[in-house]
Amino acid sequence: MQSFAQLAAQFNQFFEREHFPTSPASLYDPNRYFLQLGGKRIRPVLCLMGNELFSSIHSTTWEAATAIELFHNFTLIHDDIMDKAPLRRGLQTVHEKYGNNTALLAGDVMMIKAYAYLSKVPEASLSSILSLFNKTAIEVCEGQQLDMDFEQQAQVSFGAYLQMIEKKTSVLLAASLMIGAILGGAGERNQQLLYSFGLKLGLAFQVQDDYLDAFGDPSKFGKQVGGDVLADKKTFLLIHALDTADADAKERLLYWQGRQDTHKVAEVLSIYKSCHVDEWALQLKQQFLEQALADLDQIAVVSSRKIPLQSLADYLIQRQV
Ligand code: IPE
Ligand code: IPE
Ligand code: MG
Ligand code: MG
Ligand code: MG
Repeated sequence: MQSFAQLAAQFNQFFEREHFPTSPASLYDPNRYFLQLGGKRIRPVLCLMGNELFSSIHSTTWEAATAIELFHNFTLIHDDIMDKAPLRRGLQTVHEKYGNNTALLAGDVMMIKAYAYLSKVPEASLSSILSLFNKTAIEVCEGQQLDMDFEQQAQVSFGAYLQMIEKKTSVLLAASLMIGAILGGAGERNQQLLYSFGLKLGLAFQVQDDYLDAFGDPSKFGKQVGGDVLADKKTFLLIHALDTADADAKERLLYWQGRQDTHKVAEVLSIYKSCHVDEWALQLKQQFLEQALADLDQIAVVSSRKIPLQSLADYLIQRQV
């Protein structure tokens, strides 16, 4: 059984090959630029761990993991256009550097390449993996659209927020694990439990992502701090603040929706702080982590095999990047 650090290092070696031709450079250089910015490689490692939970890693699991990481990077390139994000992984986003049109196409070609890698899995599991992957990709699109729709709505319920983050984020983490489990020969029930573990873990992961967007250390975080506030994203921070703030603060929060001003981020973040969003974030992450671990617990393999996934889950909700 291998740790996150061990699997991430091996995956990076496997992933560091050329995925794209050289010409036209105007299309493929942006992809090369983006992939060399790094990233935590969480999803490919989840795929590898999903396999290793049940059996030693199959050679094609590396290909599936590559497909998943390429697909994830495609979603980020397009997400940064939608979110008007200037920074990613500490450097300029693809659309900032090369323009929106190229970023769209660079993302498209990356997604198609992801399917090329995915098709390398054994014939016997190809159809189940492909249909899971397609279902996941569609849900990510739905989640991303909801995320944008919510920008225009003054208030969004906590339940609607959870549905949105499950689609835009959790399903890919869950599917990464389940694809690994399928390749590792897991039975149906174990596959489902692992998928459910991933869904809950994904909620905790997005809670941390939203928290860091507001309160991350700009020197480590690699994205524009306060970007979600500027874009009027309906994060759990805003939802909790609107639920608990006094009338005056609530009015200020609503006032800032749809407005752009240099004071917006500082004022909204200070209201968040006064509503104790720190404690709320901890409570939420703890709750989803417990639900996730309860699913992992039920998976029918010896408990020592679950240790890497338990440690990864702890890391994901404490990470500062
Ligand atoms: C960012 O994912 C997008 C979300 C779903 C929140 P990661 O935080 O895994 O991004 P990288 O790949 O490590 O940069
Ligand atoms: C992104 O959510 C989810 C996907 C890319 C599908 P965010 O928009 O919060 O991700 P970051 O914060 O830009 O990485
Ligand atoms: Mg974004
Ligand atoms: Mg987004
Ligand atoms: Mg975010």
